[in-house]
This record gives sequence, structure tokens and C-alpha cells, in this order.
Amino acid sequence: MHTIVLATQKGGSGKSTLAIGLALAAIQAGHTVRLIETDPQGTLSNWQGRRPYAEPLVEPVYSAGDIEDKLQSLDRSGVTLVIIDTAGGTSAATTAAIRYADLCLIPSRPSVADVEATASTLNLARAWNTPFAFVLNQTPIRGQRVSNAAIVLGDEISNDLASVVAQPYIVMRNDHQDALGLGLAVIEYAPSGKSADEVRGLWQWVETRLNGGVTADEPLMISLLPASPDIVPTMFLPAPEEAVHADALTS
Ligand SMILES: Nc1ncnc2c1ncn2[C@@H]1O[C@H](COP(=O)(O)OP(=O)(O)OP(=O)(O)O)[C@@H](O)[C@H]1O
Ligand SMILES: [Mg+2]
Repeated sequence: MHTIVLATQKGGSGKSTLAIGLALAAIQAGHTVRLIETDPQGTLSNWQGRRPYAEPLVEPVYSAGDIEDKLQSLDRSGVTLVIIDTAGGTSAATTAAIRYADLCLIPSRPSVADVEATASTLNLARAWNTPFAFVLNQTPIRGQRVSNAAIVLGDEISNDLASVVAQPYIVMRNDHQDALGLGLAVIEYAPSGKSADEVRGLWQWVETRLNGGVTADEPLMISLLPASPDIVPTMFLPAPEEAVHADALTS
């Protein structure tokens, strides 16, 4: 069984939306999936309440101390993939979820402020030696904003970091919001749409990473990333020339 956690301090970055999207993409790819909700806000439970189908089951686990036992029992019951949705901010439950996950996905909108807000999650993933990847979400269809965010993520410190930016980026489209409102995932709501294609592509990227593979354009393994956590906060501090990028992002 593999376990993925969606985590980042910033609210509204797409943790719950991507958890649901990836869950349905994985089910379509043949997995037995369970969603764990550690966010008392209850986005996944509310979604399940609107949902016309039973699967995937959503299990609320709000206590950090219960997460390891829950994962062990799901493993014994034949579940092949657990996806944990966490609350914004930091909490003991989020820390435990990151600790026991095989992969921490860190969604971020393509703005400097959002990317900066990922630092504490990144530090947690590093502290627990949990592999991680950024997912750029709610991106424009094309344009400077995304490449600027990728620059902030990767270019200033290390090309290695760019190897943990998941592909493809997930574009901002109404399909995501409309699907969730109906208790569906985007690949159920508009299966032949571009959003569905992107989410299926993201699942393939994630599955490759979970299986220890190197994605086609990812020549470097996570283990080759700089080991020192000290490097993490500094890479998010914009250098003067980056302030120009920041201005561009907000325009
Ligand atoms: N790619 C996208 N395109 C359009 N809307 C999106 C996309 N991703 C997320 N959204 C919308 O953005 C809002 C926030 O998304 P979501 O609830 O998934 O974020 P979150 O990180 O789980 O937030 P929180 O920290 O409050 O739990 C929702 O209304 C969701 O439908
Ligand atoms: Mg959420």
C-alpha cells in the first residue's frame, strides 16, 4: 500500500481538490483507494455527502495519534492507496500524516507568496525523510506567471529542486469547482476535458514516483537533493532581481 499526503500551510491551494482528483484517477487505474481527512473543516466528508456513489470512502481521522494505526489497518484490509487531505496551517495531525506518507505532495498556486508558504511543509517532509513534490495548481493556461513560480521553486537554489515539481501543472478551470459541487471528481464530471487529462497525467507522474521510477524528464532522484534543511528557507527568500518577478506575478 502507498500513502500520499496533500499538505501545505496556505489555505485554498487545492489540497482537497487534488486529493479527490487523484483518488478517482487512481481508482480508474485499478487501485483500491481510501481518503483520509485530517481537516476538521470537513471538505472531503461534505463532498462525500453530496456524492452519488459510495466509493471512495472518506475516513475522518483528526487525532495525530490515530494515523499510524489507521494506515496499518487499511493496509491489512487490502487498500492499495491512501490519500490524506490535511488542513491549512500546521497541526500535529498534518505532521503525523507527513511522517507516515510515502510521498508528500505540496500544492501551490503560481505566486511568490504561495510558494513561500510551502517552506514549513517542506521542512517537515525533510525532517521525516518523506519524499516530496510540488504541484503547481490553479495556473493560467499559459503565461509568465507559471514560469516565474517555477523559477522561484527551482532556479534560484538548485536545478535538483526542479526535479520535484510534478507534471503537468493543473490549470485553473471551472470544471474543478463544478465537479466538487456535485460530489464528483473532475474526471467523472468532464472525462474528456483538459482538466481530466491533467489530473490523469498528474496521477501517472505520482504513480511513477511512488514506484521509485524516474519520470521521463526528471533525471535526478529526490535523494540527490541537498540534505541540509538550512537551505530550505533561503531558497524562498527572493533576491532583489526576484522582486521583479514578484511584481510580474501580481500584475
Ligand atoms: N485547478 C483549479 N481550478 C479551479 N478551481 C480550483 C482548482 N483547484 C482548486 N480550485 C478551487 O479552489 C478552492 C480551494 O481549493 P481546495 O478547497 O481544494 O483548497 P485547500 O488547499 O484544500 O483549502 P483549505 O486549506 O481551506 O483546506 C475551491 O473552491 C476549489 O474548487
Ligand atoms: Mg482542504
